[in-house]
Amino acid sequence: MAIFYGGDYNPEQWPEEVWPEDVELMRRAGVNLATVGVFSWARIQPEEGVFDFDWLDRVLDLLHAGGVAVDLATATASTPPWATYKYPDILTTTREGAIRWPGSRQHYAPTSPDYRRLASELVSALVDRYKDHPAVVMWHINNELGCHTTYDYSDQAAVAFRSWLVRRYGDIGSLNAAWGTTFWSQRYTGFEQIVPPRLTPAAVNPTQQLDFRRFSSDMLLELLRMEKRIIRDAGATQPITTNMMGAFPNADYWSWADELDVISDDSYPDPRDPHSFRTAAFGRDLMRSLKPGTPWILMEQAPNQVNWRPNNAVKAPGQMAAMSMQAVGRGADGVLFFQWRQAARGSEKFHSAMLPHAGPSTRTYREVAELGAALRTLGDLPAPGRDASVAIVLDWNCHWALDQPNHPARFNYLAQVQGWHAAFHELNIQVDIVRSTGPFDGYDVVVAPSLYLMSDASPLVQFVASGGCLFTTAYTDVADENDGFLPGGFTQRLGEALGLTVTDFAGVQGTEASYATNLRGEILREEIVLSGAEVLETFTDGTPALTRHPFGQGEAWHLATMATEADRVSLAARLATHRGITPVMADLPPNVEACARSGLITLINHNPTPVKLGDDELGPYEYRLSRANVSPPQA
Ligand code: GAL
Repeated sequence: MAIFYGGDYNPEQWPEEVWPEDVELMRRAGVNLATVGVFSWARIQPEEGVFDFDWLDRVLDLLHAGGVAVDLATATASTPPWATYKYPDILTTTREGAIRWPGSRQHYAPTSPDYRRLASELVSALVDRYKDHPAVVMWHINNELGCHTTYDYSDQAAVAFRSWLVRRYGDIGSLNAAWGTTFWSQRYTGFEQIVPPRLTPAAVNPTQQLDFRRFSSDMLLELLRMEKRIIRDAGATQPITTNMMGAFPNADYWSWADELDVISDDSYPDPRDPHSFRTAAFGRDLMRSLKPGTPWILMEQAPNQVNWRPNNAVKAPGQMAAMSMQAVGRGADGVLFFQWRQAARGSEKFHSAMLPHAGPSTRTYREVAELGAALRTLGDLPAPGRDASVAIVLDWNCHWALDQPNHPARFNYLAQVQGWHAAFHELNIQVDIVRSTGPFDGYDVVVAPSLYLMSDASPLVQFVASGGCLFTTAYTDVADENDGFLPGGFTQRLGEALGLTVTDFAGVQGTEASYATNLRGEILREEIVLSGAEVLETFTDGTPALTRHPFGQGEAWHLATMATEADRVSLAARLATHRGITPVMADLPPNVEACARSGLITLINHNPTPVKLGDDELGPYEYRLSRANVSPPQA
C-alpha cells in the first residue's frame, strides 16, 4: 500500500467552481488522502434535525473520481452557533467561573448531555450516509480532543465529576482516606459537597486536583468511545483514528491507544528552534510506541509557517521534507498537512497550506509536490519492529501529580522525560516509550525519570530481577497512586532493587548539587541511605549522587538528582557503553539523525549547512533512506 499523502481539506470555505482545480492540483502534488469535514458541522447541519449532505456528496464523489481517498471527520469538534444558542450548557466554564463563549472553536463541554446528544446525532447521520462511500477509507473522530478545553469547572462538570468519584471510590469514607481530607478540615460527608478544583484561596487538595485531571482525560475518552460505538454499530468497517498532539499534557494517551485502529499525530515543531527536531522525534517515537508493531500517521504538520506563534518563521528549503521523512523513518505510513488550500478569511489565513494563497507557482507547493513524488518512490515500507533496546517510561498520572505547587522543587515532568529521550536521540540510540507498568520484555535498559507516583512497581522490579538494567532519577517511588506517602518512608517499592533508601529531598539552585567530578545536578537532590548499592559518583560533600546495584540477574542505577542537559547525554552514553548498546549509526556529525524502522535506515541532516560523512556529504536538510541490504553511507 502506498504511503498516505495529503492534508485537511475544507472545501466549504470555497465556491464550488474551485473544487475541480483543487483535485487537479492535488493530483499533481501526489495527494492520495484528504481529511474532510473537520470543522463542517455548521455546514452539514444548518439547524437541529436538518442535514445538508448534497455538497459533501459532491465533494466526496469528486475526490474519488480524482483518485483521492477520504479520511472522513465526524465534524464534532466545533458546534454551530444555533446549538450553543439553544443549549448554552454546551459551553465550558473556567476555574474562575467565567464562561468560554462561542466565536472561536472547540468550545464544547465534554460532559454536556446536549453536546453528547447532538454530536451522536451528527455522527449517526454521517456514518449512515457515507459508510459505503468508496472514497471513505478512514473515520476521523473529532479533532485534537481536549485541545483548548480539556478542563471545564461548570456545574454540569461537577455532577459528572461526582459520578466519576463514586465509581472510583464507592463510598465517601474511601474518598476521604484517599484524598487525606483530615488535613485542613476538608472531610466530606457526602459526594454532593465535592466541586471541581475551582479557584481557591490557597492550594487545592493535591489528590482532588489529580483526580480531576484523571476525570477530565476520561471524559475525552468517553467521547472517543461514544463516536466509535456509533460508527461500528452502524456497520462501518473502515479503520478509526483521532488526531493526537504528541505528549499532550492533558490526556492519558495510553488509555486511548487501545480504542484506535490507527494512531495519528499533529506536530508543529518551530522551524526556528534548532533543536525542535529532537522534540519532534520524541513525538514520533511516542506515536509508534502507543501501538507497537503498527504504523501510525502524521496527520497534521505545517507545510511552511504557522500563524499562532508571536513570530512565525518559514521553514528553510528542504526542512519540511526532512521532518516528514523523520516521521516515516520513525514508523509513519502517512504524511499529511494542515491544510490543503490556504484560508482566505478567519484567524488561520496566515497559516501556510500545501496550496498557498499565491497559487502553485510557489516554493511551498513545489516542495509539497516534490515530497509527494519522493514518497511515491518508497513503495511498501516495513512495519516498525522492535528496533530499540532502550525504553523510557512516560506516565501521565505522574505529570498530573507533579504539575502542582508544594513540592521540594517545581519542575516539568514531561520535560524530564523528553530530556532523557533527547539525550539518547543525540547519541542516535533508538528508543521506545513505555508505560510505567510495561511490558518491558525485550528491552535491555529502562529509564524511568522521576517516576514519583506509582500504582504497581512489580513489573519494573521483575524487569531488573530477570536481567534488565533500570535507571531511575531523583523523585522516583515517592507516592502511592493517590499521591500519598506510603507508611515507613520513601522508595518502599523500588528500594530493594535499587539497594538504597531515599530519606529526604532538597530543592537546589546553582551549584548546590555539583558532583565531586565535573557533573552537576539540578532542581533537587536526595539524601540517601545505602543498603547494598555501590556509589559511582558523589556530590561535593561526599554523599551519593549516582549509584548502581546488582539485583537478581540485572542491575538498578539511581541518580539522586536531576541531570543537566549535557550530563544526560554523558550519562546515557555511559549507560549504553556499560550495556553494550550501539547507536543506529555511530559518530555522526551534530544534528544528524539516524533511525531504524525494521530494515529501513533513515539518515537526516537537520543542519542548515552541509556536513561531511567520510568522503560523502549530506546537504542542508538532506535525507537518505536505505534498506538493510544496502549499506548506509559510512560516517
Ligand atoms: C491544529 C488544528 C488545525 C489547525 C492547526 C494549525 O491544532 O487541529 O485545525 O488549527 O492546528 O496549526
